[in-house]
Amino acid sequence: MYILHLFLLLWALLFKGGSSAHAQSNQVYAFAGGNTILPCILIPPASADIPTVEWSKVVEGLKPSIVYLYRHGCETFAMKDPDFEYRTSLILRELQNGNFSLRISNVKLSDSGMYQCMIIQNNGTKEETKVELVVGSSSEPKLSVVSADGDGVTVECEALCWMPAPQMTILDNDGKRLTDEEPKQEQDPRGCYNTRQNVTLQNPVSR
Ligand SMILES: *[C@@H]1O[C@H](CO)[C@@H](O)[C@H](O)[C@H]1NC(C)=O
Ligand SMILES: *[C@@H]1O[C@H](CO)[C@@H](O)[C@H](O)[C@H]1NC(C)=O
Ligand SMILES: *[C@@H]1O[C@H](CO)[C@@H](O)[C@H](O)[C@H]1NC(C)=O
Repeated sequence: MYILHLFLLLWALLFKGGSSAHAQSNQVYAFAGGNTILPCILIPPASADIPTVEWSKVVEGLKPSIVYLYRHGCETFAMKDPDFEYRTSLILRELQNGNFSLRISNVKLSDSGMYQCMIIQNNGTKEETKVELVVGSSSEPKLSVVSADGDGVTVECEALCWMPAPQMTILDNDGKRLTDEEPKQEQDPRGCYNTRQNVTLQNPVSR
């Protein structure tokens, strides 16, 4: 239940962060460590022959890197970005329906970005669509007592590797805020934020 709340909160944050002007279907939200599917549908489906399907990640100012290339009926590995090795696939039973959606497994925070699906028919016709992947992450916040002396009891709340950065408030059992100070936030090399906050209590609270 708790984790569900956490995820709902994170989704709310992600949607708030995303631009509402974008058609929702052009953005896909995923959690680090999970799997996701980037949609790419050809309507009407190609003839009996399966076309060439090239999925690439678009980084401004750089050559797009191939994350999946399907040609002559199977995957071609030669140009594949090693970062996506063993992590991308098409759903083979969907190909005949013109569904060339890409499955990415074990999603990383660094997978965030714009992807392009290019379909090249056997007669040379090319079609492309773009979809943006937004990756979020969260972990269970930890609450611990860091010191207890004559000045009171100091409790630290710690939320590691959240993306986007969370808001943090420490409340007592009556739902009253225990501090007005801003939490300390630092960037984690994994591409997320670590957030910590201390609160010193002079008077005991039950929770
Ligand atoms: C395409 O295939 C994926 C994976 O099986 C599925 O989730 C999605 O609904 C399919 N899209 C369409 C339009 O059939
Ligand atoms: C190529 O084939 C597709 C689908 O079969 C068709 O829609 C398209 O018009 C064709 N293009 C040319 C240049 O023949
Ligand atoms: C909380 O207090 C502990 C112990 O004094 C300290 O090590 C830690 O850096 C403090 N954390 C914050 C966010 O100020």
